[in-house]
Amino acid sequence: MAEYRIAAIGGDGIGPEVTREALRCARAVAEIHGFDLRVEDLPYGSDHYLATGEFLPDAVLESLPKDFDAIFLGAIGDPRIEPGLVERQIIARIRFGLDLYINYRPILLYSEHLCPLKGRRPEDVDMIVIRENTEDAYTGLGGIFKRGTADEIAVAEMIYSRKGCERAVRYAFEVARKVERFKRVTLVDKANAIRAQDIWTRTFAEVGAEYPEIEKDHAYIDAACMWMVKNPDFFDVIVVPNLFGDILTDLGAMIQGGMGVAASANLHPGRTSMFEPIHGSAPKYRDQNRANPLAAIAAAQLMLEHIGETAASTHLEQAIRRVLVERRLPSVDARSGFGTDQIGDLVIAAIHEQ
Ligand code: IPM
Ligand code: MN
Repeated sequence: MAEYRIAAIGGDGIGPEVTREALRCARAVAEIHGFDLRVEDLPYGSDHYLATGEFLPDAVLESLPKDFDAIFLGAIGDPRIEPGLVERQIIARIRFGLDLYINYRPILLYSEHLCPLKGRRPEDVDMIVIRENTEDAYTGLGGIFKRGTADEIAVAEMIYSRKGCERAVRYAFEVARKVERFKRVTLVDKANAIRAQDIWTRTFAEVGAEYPEIEKDHAYIDAACMWMVKNPDFFDVIVVPNLFGDILTDLGAMIQGGMGVAASANLHPGRTSMFEPIHGSAPKYRDQNRANPLAAIAAAQLMLEHIGETAASTHLEQAIRRVLVERRLPSVDARSGFGTDQIGDLVIAAIHEQ
């Protein structure tokens, strides 16, 4: 029997609870499809840092791609710690350290009633955002000069390498080529105001020439936000630099029903990659068994797809869809009246019906 080794970093706030349910659902489909998930829980996150002073040891970071087939991350972020510190030391460190250069974010409306846009149906909100994941304003290049004085200056660099743009753009075209219902790739940037992003314009044109059958399209980030609300049906695959991709996919999450359902994959194709819900750690709901684990379950579905268990992944996706379409779960926020574990049970019941 095939066996996959999964590193589970539950992390902060609601992270451990949603991780538990996501992996329980993944195991339920694994059993049906004849493979095994061997999960090892890793303790990293804010509690661990506050107790030990340690974030993610170098040796552990190095072991991740050797000892595991995938990493599942619940959520990171804690109000007791300086903003961004633990996010940088754990999420960004894994993204950068393992060179997970693609942030793959499907924007998929499972059921019409979840969409805040009037009259939009599941087929209208169905796109994949390819967010570049290792460059841009996230590298930490820059700093603060004359801090706290009247002459203080703060600098944050946005960097784009040809290699970084090219591999993201190429991945986007490959997704468009592979998924039959997609015919277009849209590059989203702000190259009119940020002229350095001309590197994206040129790379997109050059790489795009290798994909003559795929339509090429471009939108500035401000207009893309507008179009995503006005005409979401227009988009198929979007490729976007890191920071704008971060923002655009929160907007995307809303039109697919909210943070309760949005999932993402941090990929280095062919290597150990990391899967996580888009939502944060929601510390106020910690340990209350109220958080909705569906986004984490959807992230587990992406994990199954990525490790090559396509049938199991489709099976899990259909179970999530059924729970939502048939409104077995009244809402996808923390006020559904269903416990985190009960939502896991709903999905597992749907898995067994198929
Ligand atoms: C995300 C998050 C992260 C990001 C934060 C936690 C650093 O918002 O995964 O979208 O900005 O990438
Ligand atoms: Mn984000």
